[in-house]
Amino acid sequence: MIGKFSLWPEVASSFALEVDALYVFILVTSLVFGVGVFAAVVYFFVKYKRKSHDEIPEEIEGNTPLEIIWSIIPLGIALIMFFWGVVLFFKISTPPAESLNFYLVGKQWMWKVQHPSGKREINELHIPLGQPIKLTITSEDVIHSFYVPAFRSKMDAVPGRYTTSWFTPTKVGEYHIFCAEYCGLDHSVMAGRVVVMEPVEYEHWLKHGSAPTAVAPDETPEAAGARLFQEQRCNTCHQSNGMLAPMLTGVFGHEVKLQNGQTVVADETYVRESIVNPLAKIVAGYQPLMPPYQGQVSEDQLTQLIAYIKSLAK
Ligand code: CUA
Repeated sequence: MIGKFSLWPEVASSFALEVDALYVFILVTSLVFGVGVFAAVVYFFVKYKRKSHDEIPEEIEGNTPLEIIWSIIPLGIALIMFFWGVVLFFKISTPPAESLNFYLVGKQWMWKVQHPSGKREINELHIPLGQPIKLTITSEDVIHSFYVPAFRSKMDAVPGRYTTSWFTPTKVGEYHIFCAEYCGLDHSVMAGRVVVMEPVEYEHWLKHGSAPTAVAPDETPEAAGARLFQEQRCNTCHQSNGMLAPMLTGVFGHEVKLQNGQTVVADETYVRESIVNPLAKIVAGYQPLMPPYQGQVSEDQLTQLIAYIKSLAK
């Protein structure tokens, strides 16, 4: 579960234990050989220490049976690792035919998901328990890597190419998503969560959208908007260095220059449109990078975000 520290990630996918078994096998083998070699070094170091200055050591010829043994046994162990790894690799890279196909796009610095039903989400992946999930992955900008330790699943998101990954979640819960490929300034916060739900709950979630975030009764719209601004990761672009997206301080109520040469006043309508359909009016000097948030935030939440952006102009 998120928030708990442990040395070993949780086991929450069908092949997680098999990956662990191979990993432990390689770890233990390396440990046994490492300790053995080190012990032999120490032993010979003491045993063959020169005792006097004129001591001439006895010449040792080769020992063919010994050399054959120490070649064959490690070769056998290495081949076990190889074939075990190959079998597991093919299993992990071959999604079953009945998999649910999700699309996943990485971009600086968020994960965008589209469900088979068309539903979209950002930095969250809701999936039903016990169902093989296939991800078709790509990137909009640089190489990212979609990593869910609890599933023992990691796959690069490469611009201009589709990669695939699959897993069957075996345990209801929430698990970390990380980006495992350095991708720029906010690589370390390019994270999210997978939510594994009972199939019935997943169906319900698909129909009724995300459970409304609990709002404290005395939370002002500005405070709720500020919280949403972080939760939806607006801050990764709109509060960093202004290279990817315009800073929003002092914007509300003022004129904004657009890419097409026109100007608009940043009022409620403009801000709302820029959230749900950001490509409609792009600010001069910026690229059309922002994903549409249509359907991802409720009308209430839009009002709260607008209230927050308004408060930034005071
Ligand atoms: Cu995306 Cu690191």
